[in-house]
Amino acid sequence: MNRTLFLILAVSVFTGVMHAQSNAEMDKEIESILSKLTLKEKVAMCHAQSKFSTPGVERLGIPEVWMSDGPHGVRAEINWDDWGYAGWTNDSITAFPALTCLAATFNPELSGEYGFAVGEEARYRKKDVLLGPGVNIYRTPMNGRNFEYMGEDPFLASTMVVPYIQGVQKSGVAACVKHYALNNQEEWRGHINVKVSERALHEIYLPAFKAAVTKGRAWALMGAYNKYNEQHCCHNEILLNKILKTDWGFDGVVVSDWSGAHNTMESALYGLDMEMGTMTNGMTDSEEYAYNHYYLASPFYALLKEGKIDESVVDDKVKRILRLMLRTNMNPTRPAGNKNTKAHQDAARKIATDGIVLLKNTDSFFPIDPKTTMTIAVIGENATKSITIGGGSSELKAQYEISPLQGIKNRFKNATIIHAMGYASGPSAYGRVIPSKLDADSLFKAAVKAAASADMVLFIGGLNKNHHQDCEGGDRLTFGLQFGQEDLITEISKVNPNIGLVLVSGNAVAMPWLNKVKAVLQSWYLGSEAGNAIAEVISGDVNPSGKLPFTFPVKLVDNAAHHFGKLSYPGNNIDVVYEEGILVGYRWHDTKKIKPQFAFGYGLSYTGFDLNNIKTDKKTYSADDKIRVSCEVKNSGSRDGAEVIQVYIGKPGSEVTRALKELKGFKKVYVKAGKSEQVLVELNVNDLAYYNESAADWSLEKGNYIVYVGNASDNIAQKLKIKID
Ligand code: GLC
Repeated sequence: MNRTLFLILAVSVFTGVMHAQSNAEMDKEIESILSKLTLKEKVAMCHAQSKFSTPGVERLGIPEVWMSDGPHGVRAEINWDDWGYAGWTNDSITAFPALTCLAATFNPELSGEYGFAVGEEARYRKKDVLLGPGVNIYRTPMNGRNFEYMGEDPFLASTMVVPYIQGVQKSGVAACVKHYALNNQEEWRGHINVKVSERALHEIYLPAFKAAVTKGRAWALMGAYNKYNEQHCCHNEILLNKILKTDWGFDGVVVSDWSGAHNTMESALYGLDMEMGTMTNGMTDSEEYAYNHYYLASPFYALLKEGKIDESVVDDKVKRILRLMLRTNMNPTRPAGNKNTKAHQDAARKIATDGIVLLKNTDSFFPIDPKTTMTIAVIGENATKSITIGGGSSELKAQYEISPLQGIKNRFKNATIIHAMGYASGPSAYGRVIPSKLDADSLFKAAVKAAASADMVLFIGGLNKNHHQDCEGGDRLTFGLQFGQEDLITEISKVNPNIGLVLVSGNAVAMPWLNKVKAVLQSWYLGSEAGNAIAEVISGDVNPSGKLPFTFPVKLVDNAAHHFGKLSYPGNNIDVVYEEGILVGYRWHDTKKIKPQFAFGYGLSYTGFDLNNIKTDKKTYSADDKIRVSCEVKNSGSRDGAEVIQVYIGKPGSEVTRALKELKGFKKVYVKAGKSEQVLVELNVNDLAYYNESAADWSLEKGNYIVYVGNASDNIAQKLKIKID
């Protein structure tokens, strides 16, 4: 963390601590405000007055609550009453890397910097709630929104989500963790009923939300569009009333996803506090002043007036909303915020370079000498296509966005850079595909020609933010790269084998061309500093240290969700059944011995690391103990670099089905060339418990366990036996 940022952080935490009301004081103030409100005013606070705001109480000077997307930066201002952009000229912002990139850093400290920076920008844009982060688990590579989330492992997502939330909330802006829960596909997202075992629910799909609430202390949470147990997640008795608000003690506000509410009585009684985005006349177009027809508007008021719903129901909602306000727009000491600062741009770039994953690097193709005078053909639409627009609600109006082509030109000043688009995907359009009007054949031929005339090729391809790619509102239709990229890579390799592939994407893809390219970088959606970050890594200014937050299967059917046929994904338009249970991602590949293309936790470096002297502090542990795994990491190469030590735990002969091993600890360590660093990874014995469905609680099984220590889920340096007594 740079010094300036640290000082700002320290000051803001200090002022925050100095003036934060104690809970008791806050509760007292909440009661006193509540006693002044009329029933009409209470009801009004529980639903939208515009696309992204709820009313305050004018006569009491209680402010409106303003919300904005999204997880990767503050979205441009939207019209009062429709989805159009308001066309402001003061709402451009820093676009941060997508959360898959943040997860790939395996660096919780960077997550704190990320949250703090995006929170400052939300504060400056006068937003009280930032609608992010999203932490839905990566179950299938087809999910259009995987790029917005933190991968397939609940422990990684649980660890990375907490500092982000704490960072955002330091600016007096509420983080709104989403989409709770089981929103793991976009197909039929508005109504699909997810059938999943309670064990998988608690062990795989809830942990990141639980960490967000119980450790991150999120002030808001967004219900998901889909159903669980036949009830919409935005008003769900089990997920909201029981698990979230009772078991986890959530004291914040449950916000619906936009038009995620479907019923007055359920919204009133099953945990919804703020209804947003509902269309009104039968869920189609919104009428003018439609907000009175919201489920938690006039119909709710009527039921309260008739005594059919007790006033305590609306009081609980209003108390939560007032608590949100006292933490945000009624907190007189919250910092001022700022945006488009160098600190934010540096943070965006650091997260980007720390998250890029080097997947393949034969003949030391990367790094490329920045002083090279070679001719480099930069081929592919993603060399120039903006990746901050599109993708759905997380799209941004960045103040600037350095394209990969621009970043490469900036850094390789002595090289001759030639660019050919190679393929065209068509314009970004929400909810529909608009084919490109460009002549695909001439693009193809020009790219092959450019490749033939160059010393080396940088193919900048992947997916993009168009519909049916990495985009909200639809899932992907195929697992491979689209728009003719696969053939183009093949043809280019025939005229020039010196190809490095840079994948701009947020999802796994098929790689039939893998043995035709010398190197592959997974370079995510990196935001404003994309081109600079990519150039820093391919020039060797920065040694890549990212690790995959999700598995790349060789073929789609190797993925657990696609092993069981249609009902398992995408379902039958009524239900979707998570047949694989807890065996999601690498848990499936390890246990079923299906070799992945690239494994969870995998990522290469320009240097080499040796893990030595791996040991645990004891042989036998009991509940509430910490397991201390130590090891020495030696950087055996000539470049400084970073390695992620990963600790997985398995239980042979368990009384229940278990994955072969599960991530229960990790630590990123930066090691100078030729030096060694001691690493300590601490695990909680209680994290080894499994969710016991018959007891409806967690059970810690006694007996022997195996501790797997390595730098990837498929690259374990040592296994150690321990015992839980
Ligand atoms: C969208 C998304 C949600 C977003 C909200 C407001 O449909 O599901 O993530 O925050 O509506 O745009």
